[in-house]
Amino acid sequence: MPQNKVPLIKLCTMLSKTIQEGLNNQVLMEAQSSQAYLAMASWAEIQPGLEGVTEFFFRQSDEERVHMLKLIRFINERGGFATVPALEQPVVTFKSLNYVFKEFLAHELKVSGSINELVHLALAEKDYATHNFLQWYVTEQMEEERTARTLNDKLEMIGDDRSGLYLFDRDILNYGGQDAGKK
Ligand SMILES: [Fe+2]
Ligand SMILES: [Fe+2]
Repeated sequence: MPQNKVPLIKLCTMLSKTIQEGLNNQVLMEAQSSQAYLAMASWAEIQPGLEGVTEFFFRQSDEERVHMLKLIRFINERGGFATVPALEQPVVTFKSLNYVFKEFLAHELKVSGSINELVHLALAEKDYATHNFLQWYVTEQMEEERTARTLNDKLEMIGDDRSGLYLFDRDILNYGGQDAGKK
């Protein structure tokens, strides 16, 4: 590149430092979600008779990775720099299936809170492009929360009924939102 030419990236830097930081934190959160659900999938896979739950969490884990990638591409596209974060080991063993799904809901609620904070930040910074981008995540979180709540309600209803659990595991892939059964 000739000396007098300013790199293009310097001319189109659009993200403020605060927004970039917020988005990079969300990258971390989506990566952690992907790891957490991967651990749930692996735990479920070694339990007898949880093939449906296993598949559900493998898919959830893949979805979270897609959420992370979308953020990384957006940050870079807007003239920022998406930094790939280090990850801590997630919880890998669970005392019961009910506990797994309670953790799943708790995790999704945490992610929703973080997305809401980001939306707030984007408005405060008058970054309407980021605000627009984040609407996809707002919709996604509504869907994820609904799925997690539905599954927890079903487990509550089933209690210790083994045939109920059999049906729960068989039907779980029907409750994964719009992408259910597509992957
Ligand atoms: Fe996500
Ligand atoms: Fe999620």
